[in-house]
Amino acid sequence: MKEGEFYTLRGYKIKNEEVLSESMEDYIEMIYRLSLTNSEVRVNDLSVSLNVQPPSTTKMIKRLSKEGYVFYEKYGFIRLTEKGTDIGAYLMKRHRTVSKFLEIIGVENDLLEQTEKLEHAIYENTLNKLYELTDFLKNSSEYQKYITKN
Ligand code: CO
Repeated sequence: MKEGEFYTLRGYKIKNEEVLSESMEDYIEMIYRLSLTNSEVRVNDLSVSLNVQPPSTTKMIKRLSKEGYVFYEKYGFIRLTEKGTDIGAYLMKRHRTVSKFLEIIGVENDLLEQTEKLEHAIYENTLNKLYELTDFLKNSSEYQKYITKN
């Protein structure tokens, strides 16, 4: 992961203007995640993955569609727009970075739950620092000593 990649989102001002609610972020992240392995993403797949009821998903997809993040036709497939794809990629990287960081400091329990809560609060520049720190710790000769102690 190149540090610069996080900055592709700057144009959308994901955090600075609070364009996206946490819930919108969760959906976009999951659509992006699912579209990496499935060529088609449906409302049902998305509902199952997020543990929500299909009507809630449909409601959200309509909103995301109206705001230009996804293409959606009734009973059809959900596809991210270019803007949605860029944001999805960022959100997934954000998730991975937070998760890796928690892992490297020795968090073992409820890793996913904590990642899901923390990720929404982190700004892009903080995320870059977290990524760099995780990388530094991973490669530090002192790290093994630290992690066996904690
Ligand atoms: Co997440």
